[in-house]
Amino acid sequence: MIELRHVEKAFPNGTPLKDVNVTINEGDVISVIGPSGTGKSTLLRCINMLGAPTKGQIFVDGEEITAKGYDIRKVRRKMGMVFQSFNLFGHLNVIENIMVPPMDLLGVSKQDAYDTGMKLLAQVGLASKAMSYPEELSGGQKQRVAIARTLAMNPSIILFDEPTSALDPTMVDEVQAVIRELAGTGKTMMIVTHEMRFAKEICNRVFYMDEGGVYEDGTPEQIFEHPKKDNTRRFIQRLKVMHEAINAKDFDFLSLYSRLNEYVYKSQIDAKPAYRIRQTIEELCQQILVPELPDKDFLIDLVLEYSVDSGTEITVRYGGKPFDPKDTENTIAWSIFTSVADKIRYRIREADELHNVISYVIQ
Ligand SMILES: Nc1ncnc2c1ncn2[C@@H]1O[C@H](COP(=O)(O)OP(=O)(O)O)[C@@H](O)[C@H]1O
Ligand SMILES: [Mg+2]
Repeated sequence: MIELRHVEKAFPNGTPLKDVNVTINEGDVISVIGPSGTGKSTLLRCINMLGAPTKGQIFVDGEEITAKGYDIRKVRRKMGMVFQSFNLFGHLNVIENIMVPPMDLLGVSKQDAYDTGMKLLAQVGLASKAMSYPEELSGGQKQRVAIARTLAMNPSIILFDEPTSALDPTMVDEVQAVIRELAGTGKTMMIVTHEMRFAKEICNRVFYMDEGGVYEDGTPEQIFEHPKKDNTRRFIQRLKVMHEAINAKDFDFLSLYSRLNEYVYKSQIDAKPAYRIRQTIEELCQQILVPELPDKDFLIDLVLEYSVDSGTEITVRYGGKPFDPKDTENTIAWSIFTSVADKIRYRIREADELHNVISYVIQ
């Protein structure tokens, strides 16, 4: 059990943690979310005493680790930390990277460190890379080695600070899969992450950080679906709204679609509706509106809003003369669009510069 009492962390230029009071139970898997700069990394660094709090107390299993003269090595043995930037030793190969900490800090024999290291490498799917050097590995593989190295110390608590945010998107899954598996083993874990779907599915508790501390603490269901406090609600809601301006006829639709994929992922929209969202935007914006609208002052404004209850509501606004897309000459595009979109509604909003408004829903 970890208990924080009135924890403050002040830096010369600000105080990200003002008065943090939380208790983390054994076996808790906690996702730590919140806007950047709200002290998520600072909180983790206080808990493992990489940066001691400037006020307050932290207790781990009943012992005050913030007490004067407390042996910090005891904290190192109990807690492991996984960083965004792997921090592997470049001059050591993979298995050596994993063997060194338990040999140095726990006095484990070379043979035991090797045996455990190989077992852990197999667990993270990298047994065949034992003799490789970090520079020969992909980012995802490096991070899996870093996780194995942390596990080699057999910590009861593991802190992850944005473990996948330095990775190429194609490698996020393999690292998340390893963390997900760990989450079921009874270890206490805290994970700072921007990947909301991941945050939601692995944890039993969420800390939303804001205004100098843990602003809201609840179950994933509460924080993601029914946040109680204003800032949490705004943060969660903002994740679920996407706003795009398509501002030229030769607009880069491919990059729009990749932002769309990211939005769909963060908002936890399933694969089928996600496909339909992209399909309708392709037919409506790319096939029907782009050829129809004037070259000059070309602008399409696109807003997507997702909610669990009503699906994704898409609103498309554009200027030019009044034009109802159902009058398009591209009847194929229109018929695909109408076969996929629900509650299609076209209207003119006189006072608006982009007075053509079409909205629809994807379930
Ligand atoms: N070592 C440091 N020295 C000075 N200021 C710091 C230090 N670490 C963090 N801060 C400041 O504390 C605030 C919180 O930072 P951080 O914990 O990294 O936020 P988050 O991880 O939520 O993005 C930021 O304003 C940051 O500039
Ligand atoms: Mg951080």
